[in-house]
Amino acid sequence: MDIEHVPALLQETLHYLAPQRGGLFVDCTLGLGGHAEALLEASPEVEVVGIDRDAEALRVARRRLERFGKRMRTIEGRFSQLAELLAGAGITQVDGILADFGVSSLQLDQAERGFSFRLNGPLDMRMGGSDMTAADVIATYSEDELAALFRRFGEERDARRVARAIVKRRQEASIETTEELRRIIRAAKGGGRRREGRVDPATRIFQALRIEVNQELAEIGELLEQAVKLLRPGGRLVVLSYHSLEDRIVKNRLRDLDRGEVDPITGRPREETRLIEVLTRRPVRPRPDEVAANPRARSARLRAARRL
Ligand SMILES: C[S@@+](CC[C@H](N)C(=O)[O-])C[C@H]1O[C@@H](n2cnc3c(N)ncnc32)[C@H](O)[C@@H]1O
Repeated sequence: MDIEHVPALLQETLHYLAPQRGGLFVDCTLGLGGHAEALLEASPEVEVVGIDRDAEALRVARRRLERFGKRMRTIEGRFSQLAELLAGAGITQVDGILADFGVSSLQLDQAERGFSFRLNGPLDMRMGGSDMTAADVIATYSEDELAALFRRFGEERDARRVARAIVKRRQEASIETTEELRRIIRAAKGGGRRREGRVDPATRIFQALRIEVNQELAEIGELLEQAVKLLRPGGRLVVLSYHSLEDRIVKNRLRDLDRGEVDPITGRPREETRLIEVLTRRPVRPRPDEVAANPRARSARLRAARRL
């Protein structure tokens, strides 16, 4: 398989992770191994543990990173279990942690994984390690549950209308494919009469389903808690988000950890309980030349922190 995947915000990621120091780095979302490869190339003193919930991504990444021998290890699992997965490999402290959320191009480009509304495939959307598929959600959630899901995880304005159309359609026949769902969404949203710029009307509904199937936002909350505790003093955390729901969780959680615990008596944060210093006051966005070369990087936002 052709691994022609360009990692997002690569130079910026390397800047904040500073792998030239050497040390042990964890890539919580190994994907096709692009970021991990750059970390390993930065210094012969770098070791990387790569985690991914997608067994197929791990296979591809392992092949790509074979030449680094023992400096590269992989673990299959969800990053919400980060501390446990690392403990299983005998690791309790690390020098840097990277998380690059979202789907990989490997997942997106394979019709049978069901992530893309541009390709016709089964409504699956499992990245790995979930029991429920998108087809299960579409078939079993009530109209109210679907509407709430589309609103909450898709920030979809027409959530109710789409939910109603799905429930109506599934009474006649089960909804099995990305193409069928896309058609239902388009019709419910007025056949594209209302323009939303260049964004496909199915975008937000597909995003909501993917988040639900993979419990993506809960995963991120768990990850951040554990990641900062695993870092050695001076260790770095870099997180790449791709939409505002992800970025909001990262921003708020990092801000709280930077502020420290609030003293119940004075109501002020206690300096000595600060765990990190946030290094990015604003999220770092890709430069226009990166977006031109790699349109998938368009929505990437990077936040970084240093363990105190
Ligand atoms: C955008 S890709 C990463 C690309 C990678 N940085 C590269 O340079 O090739 C995101 C990867 O994270 C994985 N992933 C998403 N959520 C995860 C989770 N909760 N636990 C583990 N892996 C996850 C996906 O399976 C996917 O392979």
